[in-house]
Amino acid sequence: MGGVAGFSKFSKEEKLQWIAAQFTQDPEQAVALLQGFWHEDAEVQRIFDGFSENTISNFFLPFGIAPNFLIDGQLHAVPMVIEESSVVAAAASAAKFWQTRGGFKTKIINTIKLGQLHFSWSGPTEKLRRYLPEIKSELLNDVQHLTLNMEKRGGGILDIELLDFTAQEPNYFQLKVSFETCDSMGANFINSILEAFGHRIQRFVADHPDFIGAERQLTVIMAILSNYTPDCLVRAMVSCPIEKLNKVAEGMDGVRFAEKFYTAVRIAQLDTYRAVTHNKGIFNGIDAVVLATGNDFRAVEACGHAYAARDGQYRSLSNCSIDDGLFRFWLDIPLALGTVGGLTKLHPLAKLSLEVLRQPSAQQLMSIVAAMGLAQNFAAVRSLVTTGIQKGHMKMHLMNILNHLEASEQEAHWIAQQFTDQAVSFSAVRDQLAELRQKAVDAPIENGAIAKIKNR
Ligand code: MEV
Repeated sequence: MGGVAGFSKFSKEEKLQWIAAQFTQDPEQAVALLQGFWHEDAEVQRIFDGFSENTISNFFLPFGIAPNFLIDGQLHAVPMVIEESSVVAAAASAAKFWQTRGGFKTKIINTIKLGQLHFSWSGPTEKLRRYLPEIKSELLNDVQHLTLNMEKRGGGILDIELLDFTAQEPNYFQLKVSFETCDSMGANFINSILEAFGHRIQRFVADHPDFIGAERQLTVIMAILSNYTPDCLVRAMVSCPIEKLNKVAEGMDGVRFAEKFYTAVRIAQLDTYRAVTHNKGIFNGIDAVVLATGNDFRAVEACGHAYAARDGQYRSLSNCSIDDGLFRFWLDIPLALGTVGGLTKLHPLAKLSLEVLRQPSAQQLMSIVAAMGLAQNFAAVRSLVTTGIQKGHMKMHLMNILNHLEASEQEAHWIAQQFTDQAVSFSAVRDQLAELRQKAVDAPIENGAIAKIKNR
């Protein structure tokens, strides 16, 4: 039981039936559940099925909005796709906070994407270097049909660099290629060019009269973009005079808050254990917008974490300073994003997200995403150095538990009051709710509110 041949050839219906029959306790119920998440419009469902393989249903995630993001003088309502409670609320609250303190300012530092052609060749490095200008011009000629459109949009191939790794790995060289891909993330463009380069460079050494013996043989190991794009970088920043931080937390003045906040960021610079959690908070915001706009969150995460460790130690991606009474908080983050191509126009909600964001260019999207990462980080660290994170989290957690227990609105209200100063746990909420419901049965007349609950 469990194995199957030719699963990909099954119809969707057959896949669903097979999975349910093989692996679920109640196949009929499982099939109904999976089908219940199909889109009612068959055409839309066909689009979703086409995104992946062996699809049997859809997996929903909440699609929320964090309004009031003032970024470079323009107000945005930012779409977020995230399953973790508190994240959208935290983003919205940080956005509101900074809206009255100058908003988020961003700067695109660079937009270079990278690709690598890894190959094996046994010959003197300096010979390859000598012929590099000739090789480059043949490579560029060969891909003109691929680069023409991108060049019209202002992009294309920026540079081709030969890297010699033979000291670490015999015969291993690399062409490191830089690209400007304008509004597209550029993965297909880059990979097509690299593969064409692979064929061309092989032919170059095989056909050139100056290459002899083993030098005529070049083996392409692989051709692929690099998701590490440290020069596709954006900075998002907020700043304000310290006295404007006076109202951040009850009983804490602006100076005290700024100092604690600064120290918290400093700790994340120094200590990897804290840095990972700190940066996770940043990615709570970043991934949510990246996902909502149909971009590749795995690529963005992988790159961001590598960038966080660029000096050999994993550190905070954000920085803080306090100078001459001015509080500054900023985030430098590499973001390889696209606003055309890929899922951006295919996924109906990704398309809508981009419309809500007023059809941003890739650079504008970099700014919005970076501002969101900074907002999320600000909200998390603000909570950590003031009330603690659990207060907000537990409120949401309580609501999730109450939903799970199918509490009515009145019951939820009642229970929420009981838990203002009490630790939230599933069993404590369940017991309180049971007690409340029992009271409603035992003494319906004595308490109007409880009587209402009973009659829900
Ligand atoms: C939780 O998802 C994210 C935080 O842990 C981030 C942080 O600690 O900075 C709250």
